[in-house]
Formats: sequence, C-alpha cells, structure tokens
Amino acid sequence: MAKQNAVITGYGFYAPPRVVTNFDLEKMVNDPRGPTSDEWITSRTGIRERRFAGEGETTSTMSTKAARIALDRARLRPQEVELIIVGTCSPDYQFPATACLVQTKLGAERAGAFDVEAACTSFVSALAVANGMILAGTVRNAVVIGAECLSRFLDFKDRTTCVLFGDGAGAVVLEASNASVGIESAVLHSDGSKGDLLWVEGGGARIPATNESVAAGKHYIRMEGGETFKLAVKAMADASEEAIAEANVTADEIDLMIPHQANTRIIDAVVKRLRFPMEKVFVNVQRYGNTSAASIPIAIAEAAEQGRLKKGDRVLLAAFGGGFTWGAAVLEWWGVPIPDRREKSIVDRAARQLEDLVDRVVPVRD
Ligand code: ACO
Repeated sequence: MAKQNAVITGYGFYAPPRVVTNFDLEKMVNDPRGPTSDEWITSRTGIRERRFAGEGETTSTMSTKAARIALDRARLRPQEVELIIVGTCSPDYQFPATACLVQTKLGAERAGAFDVEAACTSFVSALAVANGMILAGTVRNAVVIGAECLSRFLDFKDRTTCVLFGDGAGAVVLEASNASVGIESAVLHSDGSKGDLLWVEGGGARIPATNESVAAGKHYIRMEGGETFKLAVKAMADASEEAIAEANVTADEIDLMIPHQANTRIIDAVVKRLRFPMEKVFVNVQRYGNTSAASIPIAIAEAAEQGRLKKGDRVLLAAFGGGFTWGAAVLEWWGVPIPDRREKSIVDRAARQLEDLVDRVVPVRD
C-alpha cells in the first residue's frame, strides 16, 4: 500500500452569536484597581469584540456545531468517523472528556474519543497526535477540534485578564490519503516550571473546590501578562523556524501563516522576528479575542471561507499557551473531500443531507 499522509478534507467553525464589545466590558468590569476602556483594550491587544457562549452553550455544544460543518465539507458521515480529539482547557466536565460528549451528540458510534489539554497549544497538539495516528495506520480519519468556553472562567473583577478571552470552536477533518503531502511537520515544546504564570489554580486535585477556594476566586484564569508576552513571542518564532526547517522548506515557500490569535502585538512581534510579510499572516483576533485552543481552527476555517487558502498552499500554524506550551506545524492545504472516497451513491448523499437537517432542527442533546 502506498504511504498514507494526513490531509485536511473539511473545516468548520462556530462562534456563539452573543457579541461582547469593549464598550460592553467598560460596563461589566468592576476591578478595584480601576476601570477598563475600549481605548486601552484596542491599543494593547487589538481586540475590539469577542463572543460569549449563551445559556446552555458549552464547549461540547460549540464543538459539535463546528464538527458537523467540517464533516459536511469533507462529505464524511459521523458513522464513518474513527477518532475525535477535542483540544480544550475549558472542558464541560473534569470527566468525561468533552470529546465523548461530542461523540454522542454527533452520533459517531464507531469513534474513539479523548481530550488534549495544552491550553492555547491544544489544537496544534491534537493535530500532531491525530497526524501520528493516521501515519501509523491506527485510524483512517479523525475530527480534530479546538474549542473553549473561557467566559465561564473570567473574573470581571480582574481587568488584566477578563478583557482578553472569548468563546468558540473550530474543527478540521483529517484523513489518510496518498494524494498529497498533507502535514509536513509538527513540533511541540513545553516548560512546566512557568505553569503559574498563566493558570486556573483551583478546581483540580491540588485545590479542590471549597467555599474558601471559590470565595478566593481560585477558579478563574490568572495571568502574568508581561512575562507571558515576552516568552510567547520568542517561543512562537522559534517553533515556526523549527517547523519550517523540519518540513524541509524555506519561509518564502509559506503561503499563509496562521498564528494563535492572542493579541495583535504578540502577532506583530512574532512576524517581525521571523521577517515574514504581514500580507501572508491571517489575523482575526479583533473580532474574537483570544479563544485559546479554538483560535487556530477558527482562523483556518475563516481563511478558507474567505478564499485565503487554496488547494496546494503551504500553511504555517504557530501556537503558545499556558503550561507553558508551544508548537508549530507546516502543512499543505487540501480543503476538499479526498478523490478516493467519493460518495457512493445519490441515496447516500440524500441520507447524509437528511441527517444534517434533523441535526440542525432538533435541539442539541446534552
Ligand atoms: N484596562 C485598563 N487598564 C488595564 C487593563 C485593562 N483591561 N489591564 C491592565 N491595565 C493596567 C494595569 O493595571 C497597569 O496599570 P498600572 O501601571 O497602574 O499598574 C497598566 O494597565 C499596564 O499594565 P501591563 O500589564 O504592564 O500592560 P501591558 O502593556 O503589558 O499589556 C497585556 C497587558 C495586554 C495583558 C500584555 O501583557 C499581553 O498581551 N500579554 C500576553 C497575554 C496573552 O495573550 N496571553 C495569552 C497566551 S495564550 C493562553 O494560553 C491563554
């Protein structure tokens, strides 16, 4: 059998409809140190608005919506899915894994499912895992999701963090194919000694939920912004160079860079360090804020929908997040169903469309 590579055959994203602007935050933030303002947030981060999940929406419901769109584009039925990985640091529960909730909501009855937690690097990590499993022949396809419901972990009494984050989900379908080079490289790194610079301290085995821990706000995201900023820039630039070298290409051969969307100042600094032209960089942080694990797959889907990704384009992904974790990947964009798995018949196609219609009409199962 010819060597199989992993190609992206479908993509999709879901952003909850509730838009929260910086002006809304001016009214919502109640920090004893002082107020926030649209001017501060825009000038320091580039963020103008973000989405917050509505009542009943969670990481698994948003993941499911993004995955359905990706599967539809890949023309793969949920029953054919072999693996679901959700990258997230805001799962619905400690356990079961959010991927299991997605498995049942999708009706992917044959799929294995687990979560990957590497904060904002979760999607790149999950993609690397799925790629490895496809290359090893363990599975033939995987739905790889990055999703977050970070609004539930924001302390509106802490203006230094609550203005940065947003909710959403993005998904790709990765499939074995001998038709393309697919994912050309993936590099992952970490430095656990700096874990307390960006974390949610409470709620785990170290500090289980008690009245005291909740009263002390230990279940919210806390971050040392300045230190995180410096490390993020160097780590994302270094990982990008490493992934480009490992793919055996040059920076000039990259058609589009999709960095983790934390803020425009980090992206600008990374791009400058790499001496990369800004026209080749996709940025949407102004509309979604930092959606952590969801930021790269949302950006992939938006870039493809906007025609910024064409079949055969070479894409660089770069991420940095809590842990600290960081990583990068280089891939050849495919973005359409693979030629060797066409729909078998018109009946199959009609069945799939009917299923999708029912899924959209019937409310999401919890
Ligand atoms: N509104 C108004 N004032 C604010 C706000 C706010 N929202 N937040 C902080 N300030 C104040 C501070 O209190 C401080 O006031 P002081 O000088 O009186 O003490 C002043 O603004 C400057 O604060 P700094 O923290 O020095 O501001 P800085 O220019 O460093 O910007 C920022 C802060 C935007 C957080 C920056 O450090 C940053 O971008 N860090 C990286 C953050 C990030 O994206 N992390 C995510 C990584 S990925 C992941 O895994 C989630």
